[in-house]
Amino acid sequence: MSNPLHSKSALVSLLITFFLITSMAVSGGNYFQDFEITWGEGRGKIVNNGELLTLSLDNHSGSGFQSKKEYLFGKIEMQLRLVPRNSAGTVTAFYLSSQGENHDEIDFEFLGNLSGEPYTVHTNVYAQGKGERERQFHLWFDPTADFHTFSVLWTPQIIIFSVDNTTIREFKNLEHRGVPFPKIQPMKLYSSIWNADQWATRGGLIKTDWTQAPFTATYRNFKAFPFSNFINRIFMNPISEQKLKWVQ
Ligand SMILES: *[C@@H]1O[C@H](CO)[C@@H](O)[C@H](O)[C@H]1NC(C)=O
Ligand SMILES: *[C@@H]1O[C@H](CO)[C@@H](O)[C@H](O)[C@H]1NC(C)=O
Ligand SMILES: *[C@@H]1O[C@H](CO)[C@@H](O)[C@H](O)[C@H]1NC(C)=O
Repeated sequence: MSNPLHSKSALVSLLITFFLITSMAVSGGNYFQDFEITWGEGRGKIVNNGELLTLSLDNHSGSGFQSKKEYLFGKIEMQLRLVPRNSAGTVTAFYLSSQGENHDEIDFEFLGNLSGEPYTVHTNVYAQGKGERERQFHLWFDPTADFHTFSVLWTPQIIIFSVDNTTIREFKNLEHRGVPFPKIQPMKLYSSIWNADQWATRGGLIKTDWTQAPFTATYRNFKAFPFSNFINRIFMNPISEQKLKWVQ
C-alpha cells in the first residue's frame, strides 16, 4: 500500500519536474491575446504591442482586466510594478476567481502606503464562497521601483503564493478536516485597481491624495502553466506507486 504522505511529497516533486519540463513550451503571453480590459473607460491600457499592460485609478474610476482563458490548476505568474510614490488608500488586486455563487478565489491584494512606507500584501483563499483565510505580509523590497514576480501554484493538494520565487504562504488542502478547498471550479485571472481609503491604509486613517492621481500599476511577462489533462487525471485518481514510477 502506498503511504499517503509519501505520495504527496512524490507528487510535489513530480509537479515541480513537470513545470520545469513544460515551462519552455508555454508561451510568455501577449496581453492582447490573453486578456481583455473589462472596466475603467480607457484607464486600463495594453501598450508596446501587447508586452505591457497598465491600470490606472483617478478620482472618477479605477480599472480592471481579466484573462480570456480559464484555468483549473496550474501555475500563474505575473510581473507587477506597483503604484509609485504616495499610493496610500489605493488597492491593487491580482487574483484568480471562478464565477457565480459559492465562488472560489485565490487572492493577492496590494495595499498602498505613504511614500517610503511598506506596501502590505494580503493573501486570501475562498472556497465555495467562504473566505476569511486572510494573511498579510509586508514586502521586503520597494515594489514600485522595478518589476517583481508574483505567482500562484494551484494544485489539488496545495496552493503556494510566491514573490520572486520565495514562498510566502502555503495553503494546504485540509478537506479531511472539513475545510473547503478550491478544486472543482475553473478560474479566470483578474486584476484591478480601486480606491479603498475607507480601510486600506492604517485602517482608513490615511486618505487617498488625489493630487497624486492618476495612480498606475504596470504588468508584464504573464505566464500560465496549465496542467495538462494528463496530470489532472493522475491527481484526480488514487495514486499508485506504479503509476508514479511509470511517469518518472
Ligand atoms: C478630480 O480631480 C480633478 C483634478 O484634480 C478635479 O478637477 C475634479 O474636480 C475632481 N473630481 C471629483 C469628482 O472629485
Ligand atoms: C525565479 O526562478 C526562475 C527560474 O529558475 C529564474 O529564471 C528567475 O530569474 C527567478 N527570479 C527571481 C526574481 O529570482
Ligand atoms: C504602511 O506603513 C505603516 C508604517 O510603517 C505600517 O504600519 C502599515 O502596515 C503599512 N501598510 C498599510 C497598508 O497601512
